[in-house]
Amino acid sequence: MDRRRFLKLSGFLTVSTVAGLLAGCGGDDATDTTVAVLPPDGKPTPAQALKFPQGIASGDPRADSIVLWTRAVPLGADAVASVPAAGDLPLRLIVTSDDMSALIGSSAVLGGKVLADVSLSAQAAWDHSVRHKLTGLNPATTYYYQFVSGETRSAVGRFKTAPAEHLDPGTLKFAFLSCQDWSINHWGGFDLLAAEDVDFVVHLGDYIYETVGEAFQAGAVEAMHAPLSLPDGPYKSGNSGARYANTLADYRALYKQYRSDPRLQQVHARFAMIAIWDDHEFSDDCWGDASTYDNGSYDKASGRGDNSHQTARRRGANQAWFEFMPADVPFDAAASGFQTIKLYRDFRFGSLMHLVMTDERLYRADHLIPEAAVGSSIGSRYLVPTAQLAAAEAQKFAAGTASGDPLAQVSVLGKTQREWWQSTLAGSKAAWKIWGNEVSLLRMRLDASKLAGVPAALRKEFVLNADQWDGFNAERKVLVGFLRQQKISDVVAITGDIHSFYAGVVYDDYATGAPGMVDLVTAGISSDSFYHYFYAAAQDPALAAAAPLVYTSEAGAEQLAIQMLSAAIAGAAGVSDLSDTAAVQAAVQGAIVAGKVSATAFQTTSGLAKTPINTFDDTVGGALGTTLAATMAALAGKSAAVATLSGLIRQQLAAVMGLPVASVPATEVLKRLNPFADQASGVAPVNNPWIAYTDTDAQGYAVVTLSAGELRAEFKKIARLDGHRAPAAPLLQTTRLQVPRGQVKVNRL
Ligand SMILES: [Fe+2]
Repeated sequence: MDRRRFLKLSGFLTVSTVAGLLAGCGGDDATDTTVAVLPPDGKPTPAQALKFPQGIASGDPRADSIVLWTRAVPLGADAVASVPAAGDLPLRLIVTSDDMSALIGSSAVLGGKVLADVSLSAQAAWDHSVRHKLTGLNPATTYYYQFVSGETRSAVGRFKTAPAEHLDPGTLKFAFLSCQDWSINHWGGFDLLAAEDVDFVVHLGDYIYETVGEAFQAGAVEAMHAPLSLPDGPYKSGNSGARYANTLADYRALYKQYRSDPRLQQVHARFAMIAIWDDHEFSDDCWGDASTYDNGSYDKASGRGDNSHQTARRRGANQAWFEFMPADVPFDAAASGFQTIKLYRDFRFGSLMHLVMTDERLYRADHLIPEAAVGSSIGSRYLVPTAQLAAAEAQKFAAGTASGDPLAQVSVLGKTQREWWQSTLAGSKAAWKIWGNEVSLLRMRLDASKLAGVPAALRKEFVLNADQWDGFNAERKVLVGFLRQQKISDVVAITGDIHSFYAGVVYDDYATGAPGMVDLVTAGISSDSFYHYFYAAAQDPALAAAAPLVYTSEAGAEQLAIQMLSAAIAGAAGVSDLSDTAAVQAAVQGAIVAGKVSATAFQTTSGLAKTPINTFDDTVGGALGTTLAATMAALAGKSAAVATLSGLIRQQLAAVMGLPVASVPATEVLKRLNPFADQASGVAPVNNPWIAYTDTDAQGYAVVTLSAGELRAEFKKIARLDGHRAPAAPLLQTTRLQVPRGQVKVNRL
């Protein structure tokens, strides 16, 4: 048997097999633990001083293989700029299995028994990135690796192979993350993540952000992150403001700058990563090769809209992802069109877990309501009226049906991937089926139809974000319905994208159906939060009346108390239209003059804090107004308005309940301090009862521990920026959740 093997695939993924690792497999290879692999040109490897400015990485761990990655350039070269003149650079990859954990992340000489010593080439054509797939490894085994050239060495890395397919490993532990915007907040979370004891890490996308200087990147950032540069990146509009990656060189530059962060490098050195992309690896809220920066075009006659298709840009984004992520995926630069890469793939971790990773950007249809049809991303991708979305979906579903694939125009996955997803899950015998999903499956609606406090134009039902699965309800219905019909249980999605933590159950039909699976959503590791975007939008004076749906403050809660008190007095005085400010004011004046209420009850209390308090969690994943009512109640001792309103509510309740005023329970008063609650019952609306946990204002990541009986998840929330530095103690809060095996539910522990 030939012990020297070398395989070269298309593209630049090289493969070698470690011979003789499988104990007891017999034959003369069984005792041979070293393999020498010739470089592509067959020449011996000379010693040359190189450096590894983007560190090392491992990815796509399977029971018998791994992909190992680095980028090597001459010692004197710039860390980020491409250096085509350097030509192809030879280097070696050393893999050992003795415990070298003390050396991880350092460039000390990797010791231990050498299992593989592979000659490789960092090719200029691939920006000197190197990717090598090593096969023939043992399952559930920790290995160490290092790239070497002459006397220079990369950091030492570690990875663990997956358990053998038929065996139950007992437990598995992994972390998942998304949304690592370089340009805002801080990356202290990577220090925490590097210290975790996990088997591997799943990245759900937004590994890079394609823009520099975009509005959502305008907040404070740690000093350690210098402004990013793009070699070609044009301005999004005019000659100033945000710029975006437009060429292969731009996307490469972003990966090289992002990967220069030592904390991210330490995470890669310690754990194999299984990565998928989301939108920002190409373009914000993209679909296929279409960018949504402009409002696109819209054809009234056909009802079809479109965005600008940027095939060359998409191809560059695909290639850069392939060059810089340690993934075992096919890439074909010679293919025409924009689908040059296939990211969706699955992984088995013994009999305990089957991980299914989907690509929710490359095959996706346009957003159901094109931006140009409404003139803005608002109404198209964000805050989309549910009725309009359903009508657009029905129209596109009918058009698809006529063309042979009903979901063709309303799909995230595309037909081929959808059928692969279905057959993979139907065929899985694993205890847990984990779906590496990019955008949340949880319905996030805002039913503002009965909210008197918001402007009339907002008094309808919306979905908050139609770039998520909420915008593609028909396909979600098919997928979750498939799980239910096929009785495929213990399916849990792990999700990113939305820059907040959520946990909840996913329905095939949120109006009439039943839950079919669980969705666990992590906040971004650094990106600004979903709450923060809505907070910024609510600063628009035109939306002032809707602001309590997003945030309040002590002063804001008192203002609401004054409004509620005024409305109650005006109502008692017979004013039927409470939006008639003059009539309300007149009724209030009348009550003051008549001595029924003190004028001080309508005056603001000096010194109340204006610090924003998040009420958006209640709007998205709780009972609306709960935090508002609590904020108001806490002011009862110092605000005449709140004290008067509370007293009025107490009197009314006493009359209704037939109790003395003093006997009215405080909890009943508290419920009615909620401006959104039904005043008779005290019950507040719940927009999304399927969401069991919400934190809309967070950065962090999640850790999952699987066993036969349960899934445990920890949401690790990270502390804020400390001046211009990452906080010394990055962990702010850990939230513990449980999904019991055999049940579609999430428990908070
Ligand atoms: Fe993101």
